[in-house]
Amino acid sequence: MAKWLDHAVFYEIYPQSFYDTNSDGIGDFKGIIAKLDYICELGCNAIWINPCFESPFGDAGYDVSDYYRTAPRYGTNEDLKQIFDEAHKRNMHVLLDLVPGHTSVEHKWFKESMKAGHNQYTDRYVWTDSIWEEPAGMGCIRGISERDGSCAVNFFSHQPALNYGFYKPDKKWQQSMDDEGPKATLEALKDIMRFWLKMGCDGFRVDMAGSLVKHDEDGKGTIKLWQNIREFLDQEFPDAVMVSEWGEPDKSLLGGFHMDFLLHFGPSHYNDLFRCEEPFFSGRGKGDVSGFVAKYKENYEKTERKGLICIPSGNHDMIRLAKTIHGDELKIAFAFLLSMPGAPFIYYGDEIGMRYVENLKSVEGGYERTGSRSPMQWDKSLNAGFSNAPEEDLYIPLDRDINRPDVESQQKDETSLYHEVKKLLKIRRSHPALQNRSEIEFVYAEKNKYPLAYLRSCENEHILVVINPSDQEQTFDCSYIPKETVYHFGGIITATGSHITVPAGSAGFYII
Ligand code: GLC
Ligand code: CA
Repeated sequence: MAKWLDHAVFYEIYPQSFYDTNSDGIGDFKGIIAKLDYICELGCNAIWINPCFESPFGDAGYDVSDYYRTAPRYGTNEDLKQIFDEAHKRNMHVLLDLVPGHTSVEHKWFKESMKAGHNQYTDRYVWTDSIWEEPAGMGCIRGISERDGSCAVNFFSHQPALNYGFYKPDKKWQQSMDDEGPKATLEALKDIMRFWLKMGCDGFRVDMAGSLVKHDEDGKGTIKLWQNIREFLDQEFPDAVMVSEWGEPDKSLLGGFHMDFLLHFGPSHYNDLFRCEEPFFSGRGKGDVSGFVAKYKENYEKTERKGLICIPSGNHDMIRLAKTIHGDELKIAFAFLLSMPGAPFIYYGDEIGMRYVENLKSVEGGYERTGSRSPMQWDKSLNAGFSNAPEEDLYIPLDRDINRPDVESQQKDETSLYHEVKKLLKIRRSHPALQNRSEIEFVYAEKNKYPLAYLRSCENEHILVVINPSDQEQTFDCSYIPKETVYHFGGIITATGSHITVPAGSAGFYII
């Protein structure tokens, strides 16, 4: 089931900032359609679109006010359907962003839920039964409703928490997962999923997937809830793919998700790779990949190799990759990202090394994230080809650096990051050992040492990947003998018996 995921390579589109076709300064659905061929040509065959539903945009759309309608600024439901159709014509797939944990305060459910009298939405959110009692351990909204109570929030204070129950309720106002209110919320969620899947979407990236059931420290309740949803999907939409923003694959995959993201928060050590003081992928060579690998191995075993662990290049919540690593370091980072198991996710613009734009005023609840959400840089024309609107009307200001990277220039330059990414994706496609579900065995990943080496394997093919971001030549011992080079950036390794010498600043894939 969902076989397409086995070969999927995703491109994350932040719709606001991708491509504006009607010159209002903000990206739109028609812009996504116009650029599908670009994404395809790069070598991606699937997209994830950040929330594009009706919203007051206090959190860039992660505060939904109507799950059934697209935000007019992007286009109509029909236009979104056209994205599904156009993608399918190109053998591509589309994940929408599902925000199941909270809504906007402007959602009609919440407005009804705030009323003093009982109605069908009274239990749709997590409310205490007195304005003077706050839900312990959670933020809350108080004093804006006629209803006597405080409503728990999930993230910003305008994002009230939907009620899926408490794992072990210990107060009168806390409902159990099996109470009517939480059960109705779950059914309402299924209806939303049904609506978009019927229209042609291929699955969902699920926002804050691990936080639905409250006071559920080890995730048992939330796992059960997602298993219930997977059952529903298996019956009605067996090919629907579910990818979680959870950061703990051992839990999310148990809940029936196909794949989980490693994130800039949580226990994965993902930040050690690119986003810390001494990233492993910096040429300085002072990083440490061993914590990441240890945790990865642990998850890989715990998930019985059945699911996929996704290591994204970045996303709309993280500081851009190109802030901490540069030039060839980025190419080497992509050699790693695009040779690991799990479906790769490329955040729009990372393929050309788009920079983090410093010192921007927060836009729509972005705060420091705003600098990673600036308009895509297509070419050297007005507004980098993103929009024909006057510059001051752009949703987020562009990177003003005259050397800012752009797609057109990099397409003309064979040595660009764009071409390296494209080449890597082509190699990934043509080697079964490098596919999403092929096995991985770590060969060398020592504390504070370089290189990183791992073996990717499937039945008939074994590829040794050797990655040395550091600016020093490195050596390691390895029982596998490299025979044929299928990819290299920088120099090629040399083997003397089991002793391997790895050139500084290099990455290579070798058939053994
Ligand atoms: C997720 C989203 C983030 C959003 C938050 C609240 O972490 O990726 O952008 O602000 O959830 O919905
Ligand atoms: Ca527009």
